[in-house]
Amino acid sequence: MVDLMPAVDRSPPIDDAILTVSDLRVSFQTPHGVVRAVSGVSLGVRKGEALGILGESGSGKSVSVGAIMGLLDSPPAEIEGEIHYGDIDLLRAPARTTRRIRGDRVSMVYQDAVTALNPSLTVGYQIGEMFRVHRPGTSRRDATRKAIELMDRVHIPSAAQRVHNYPFEFSGGMSQRIMIAMAIALEPDILIADEPTTALDVTVQAQIMRLLAELRDQTGMALILITHDIGLIAENSDRVMVMYAGRVMESGPTAAVVARPAHPYTEGLMESVPREEMKHQKLVTIEGSPPVLTAMPSGCAFHPRCRRRQPICVDDEPALRQVAAGRDSACHFAMEVLDG
Ligand SMILES: Nc1ncnc2c1ncn2[C@@H]1O[C@H](COP(=O)(O)OP(=O)(O)OP(=O)(O)O)[C@@H](O)[C@H]1O
Ligand code: SF4
Ligand SMILES: [Mg+2]
Repeated sequence: MVDLMPAVDRSPPIDDAILTVSDLRVSFQTPHGVVRAVSGVSLGVRKGEALGILGESGSGKSVSVGAIMGLLDSPPAEIEGEIHYGDIDLLRAPARTTRRIRGDRVSMVYQDAVTALNPSLTVGYQIGEMFRVHRPGTSRRDATRKAIELMDRVHIPSAAQRVHNYPFEFSGGMSQRIMIAMAIALEPDILIADEPTTALDVTVQAQIMRLLAELRDQTGMALILITHDIGLIAENSDRVMVMYAGRVMESGPTAAVVARPAHPYTEGLMESVPREEMKHQKLVTIEGSPPVLTAMPSGCAFHPRCRRRQPICVDDEPALRQVAAGRDSACHFAMEVLDG
């Protein structure tokens, strides 16, 4: 049974979080108007946990972590809210302070490892560069030795020889292992993996997810896993945040959310998961498409696609509210959805 609670305020912020994002808003000025890519996202990440961020294309997942990592050029991006790593406000602290956090304490792996690597430098040089840049004084020899150790840790065979190879000499899966080696080089507290396996086939995808889980066990680092694949989230995260049109629709412990969603959007995503018995049938997908961010619908952003829509949904935007212990949902009818 889900522990039902009155729909009051959203769950309190996570007090033992190492990274806290509060009311993050990111907009872009474009010739077509203001794109509100992220509209009030809050999240917390605890030491060692895996937080999944789930949502369709364009829901604001990458822009949210781009703001955390300082990857958004401003202008055109306008960023509001707070992003705290410990007691450092990453949006306001001086660059010399934020540089010690981003890429060092919080690192990132991207979707397309093959294009992210520099084709004209050996992989050993590129892994070693992490030390030369972030740990000045590291000799070239030490950097190569550490690169070999890291390649071993991410299970690249014959690391001592392959450290001298160029990116084109590696498969997509092996290239992603090299990106992961670079991302864990400085023993970060948090690794952000933005669609880390999308470009890979299913078998290699599973191997990379196993590697991330193994590294997390060994080092105690936290993982933020971004994907539009609910199956990956279900298997690889402790908590999940479901995003739609730059907003948090639902968040909570992954097992509970997957077993009984509290938001119609999550319900829809669940129905799009291939089940054994549906193997040869067409997958169910949510009808319609996400809104154009320069012309957001009134009320609930999901209302044009929601089969539970009522008149109130068109007029009033639902707040994110607590629906059960540690669980929030932004739906006027969250309790009914939770009740099935
Ligand atoms: N520099 C930019 N200028 C204008 N709009 C942008 C810019 N960067 C991102 N956006 C818009 O912000 C919205 C959110 O983009 P984001 O990349 O975060 O989506 P996402 O959830 O990561 O999607 P995907 O699953 O496709 O990676 C999109 O509509 C995107 O077009
Ligand atoms: S608030 Fe209304 S439109 Fe939005 S998800 Fe809930 S039921 Fe659907
Ligand atoms: Mg993205």
